Amino acid sequence: AAEPLVLGIESSCDETGVAFVRGTTLVGDALASSVDEHARFGGVVPEVASRAHLEAMIPMLERASADAGHRLADVDAVAVTSGPGLAGALMVGVAAAKALALCLDKPLYGVNHLAAHVCADVLDHGPLPEPTVALLVSGGHTNLLVARDIATDVEELGGTIDDAAGEAYDKVARVLGLPYPGGPHIDRAAREGDPAAIAFPRGLTARHDMERHRYDYSFSGLKTAVVRWVEARERAGESVPVADVAASFSMAVADVLTRKALLACSELGIRDLQIGGGVTANSQLRALAEERCAAAGVSLRVPRPRLCTDNGAMVAALGAQMVMRGLPASDLALPADSSMPV
Ligand code: KG4
Ligand code: ZN
Repeated sequence: AAEPLVLGIESSCDETGVAFVRGTTLVGDALASSVDEHARFGGVVPEVASRAHLEAMIPMLERASADAGHRLADVDAVAVTSGPGLAGALMVGVAAAKALALCLDKPLYGVNHLAAHVCADVLDHGPLPEPTVALLVSGGHTNLLVARDIATDVEELGGTIDDAAGEAYDKVARVLGLPYPGGPHIDRAAREGDPAAIAFPRGLTARHDMERHRYDYSFSGLKTAVVRWVEARERAGESVPVADVAASFSMAVADVLTRKALLACSELGIRDLQIGGGVTANSQLRALAEERCAAAGVSLRVPRPRLCTDNGAMVAALGAQMVMRGLPASDLALPADSSMPV
């Protein structure tokens, strides 16, 4: 049978993404972001995000359709992120997907946002090796997952017990007087700095933490340590070496992220690691992941940056896997589930 053409819709946070995927090939997509509208609040405002999705949804459907050279009626299925995410934001995408599935008389597939992030990689590197360990690091999520079957069996090994990694970047950036979202600014500043200049803490890596929180992360202690360090310098009337703070902070984050991901690979006997989410753009994280994977004989897969951040393509890609694996479609009563487990 020909590979299915699947429409994917993403609206769980501040990105309105729509894409067409055939099998494992991205054939067209469109993306709108409300990030600028949230900047002055220093974080995503749910109400603002929902309204922005509502305004962007039809234009993105039209733009993706034009980009793909396909009419909406050409698709074999409609896939949508049904959770986890912001409740009101999710509802806009889910309502749009239901309306399309109903009018076009096509099956509807509700997909999990975290599994979709992992699935994004098939668009760049083909079928995912299964099982694979996946590290998802964004502004909203920090999870260590193992995908034994991308469509039916993705298990959460651990996650953050406080802030997401991207959130920590954004908070530290604010302390350093850098704009929101802070990740790219810290990344740039860090290039001029010494990652070994300041010994910031590595959360949940002490022996007793490794027993209870083996695959979990914590970044709030690190954030507090950075704040205290910066404030102590300011109190002493000394200038703050922004580049060194940025580089040392980034190294602390990249160190724990990669250390625990590779520990999972070794303990589960899995030789493939996939990394996704907006923080994947970070140069120190990429470099350290490459170095440690090479040393451990683990093959690393990282999708191109625009597939790492939220987008409709990853949703369509996972929907296509569900269709190709013969999974049943969702009911049209599909709820938006803001706290959906993976
Ligand atoms: O996946 P994403 O676009 O949105 C969601 O959170 O869903 O991730 C955004 C996060 C922000 O916190 C941003 O500061 C961070 O990713 N980020 C980075 C870099 N680029 C984006 N963090 C570190 N280094 C970067 N180069
Ligand atoms: Zn995401």
